[in-house]
Order: sequence, then C-alpha cells, then structure tokens
Amino acid sequence: TRTAAVIPAAGRGVRLGPGTPKALRTLSGVPMLVHAVRAMAASRAVSLVVVVAPADGVAEVRRMLDEHPLPGTTEAVVVPGGATRQESVRLGLAALPQDVTTVLVHDAARPLVPVDTVDSVVAAVHEGAPAVVPALPLADTVKQVEPRTGERAGEPEPVVGTPERALLRAVQTPQGFDRRTLVEAHETVRLEGEGATDDAGMVERLGVPVVVVPGHEEAFKVTRPLDLVLAEAVIARRRA
Ligand code: CTP
Ligand code: MG
Repeated sequence: TRTAAVIPAAGRGVRLGPGTPKALRTLSGVPMLVHAVRAMAASRAVSLVVVVAPADGVAEVRRMLDEHPLPGTTEAVVVPGGATRQESVRLGLAALPQDVTTVLVHDAARPLVPVDTVDSVVAAVHEGAPAVVPALPLADTVKQVEPRTGERAGEPEPVVGTPERALLRAVQTPQGFDRRTLVEAHETVRLEGEGATDDAGMVERLGVPVVVVPGHEEAFKVTRPLDLVLAEAVIARRRA
C-alpha cells in the first residue's frame, strides 16, 4: 500500500493568456508545476508523483524536474497528457504501479497548497473515505443563469435561481481517492465537451459517497492573470 499523486499539467492556460502552457510558466523563478510537485512531495505519505505533461512537452517537463530535484525519496515520473483534463488524469492513473492504493489528483495550477491540507485529505482516505475533497465556503453569492453564448454573447443573462450560499462549497485539490474507486469512475463515466473539471464529480456519478474536508485559501487555482500576482505575493510572504 502506497500513496501517489497524479498532477494534471497538460492544459494550455487559455484564460491566463497566450504563451507557454500554464503549468510550465514560472512563478517567482520556479515553474508552476515544480511548485505543485513540491507541494505533494512535502507530504510524508506521498512516495510517487506522476506529472501529466502537455503531449509535446514531456521532455521539457522532465528537464524541469531534473533541474529541481525533490528533497527526500519521492520519485517523479512524467507522462503525456490528453485533450481534456479528464483524459489527462486517466493517462496519469494508467501510469501508476500496482502497489498504489491511495491516489491524490492535484492540479498543477494549484502550486501553493499547504502540506497540512494535503495531509488532511490523505488522512481522511486512509480512515476509510473512498473520495475526499478539500473545499471552502464561498465569499460571493452564486446565481444560476441562462447563459447567452454564440451570437447572443454579451446580452444580459436571465437569472434562473440563487442557491443558498451557506450550502455551497468551492472545491480545490488535491482530491483523494481509493485507487480502485477513481479508476472505475474514469473507466465508466464519459462526459462530453470539456469533460469533468473535478474527479470527485465522476465518483459521485458512480453513487459512491464523497466527503469534504477544510480547504485552504492558498490552494487557489492560478487561472487568470491576477492570480499570478497573488501567487507571487504568497511566495514572497513565505520567503520573508
Ligand atoms: N489540464 C490537463 N490537461 C488538459 C486540460 C487541463 O492536464 N487537457 C490540467 C491543467 O494543466 C491544470 C488543471 O488541469 O493543472 C486544471 O485545469 P485549468 O485550471 O482549467 O487549466 P487549463 O485548462 O490549462 O486552463 P484554461 O482552462 O484556462 O485553458
Ligand atoms: Mg481548463
């Protein structure tokens, strides 16, 4: 029995703007995916990290990891990713050795998740939960709308409803799973378009219970340009 982390890092980062694939861009001089790998390796439970690289970036990611060796004994392997996040995670899972029983799936785009958050997800899985997600209450009220897309993009969007904010959580990663449960979800759940943006959602579709543990502000996802400013400020504060 062993715990491994799969790190999907194969996205382009369209919302961040044109340039290098998002996970390969640097934050305070270190590639984002290296921060994310370090965040997983910081947990004593994690002995293997599988980085899912852009299909044309495997050699570059391998070189980045070799330039930034991990302290301790955590091993890092690199595999090529797919067209959607769901596909990339599936390819990462396929690279896991037999003896891995607990899997974390962690976005490379969440480079600054604290080790305490990682450890609490691992602990909940080890205590018997088949699927665990870190999450936080929402700051903003959320509206469900009738989206206006295509020719109607930019028109005011009708509001359909307002879910009660206190009942909602914004989910983060690493999400932790019993390996067999997550593999089954990826083998049976097929989602159209962008695929699943969240692994726990696929497990929910199997009818398997998913639980939430407290997330952390610093586990935010680097998605838009302003997030780069915040990430570098967090790194500067940690170094101070
Ligand atoms: N991801 C992946 N393979 C894909 C798409 C996404 O491995 N085909 C990864 C991203 O690299 C990221 C994580 O999934 O670490 C979360 O996705 P997101 O934040 O949406 O990143 P991108 O898809 O790269 O960004 P965007 O949606 O703005 O293009
Ligand atoms: Mg995306």
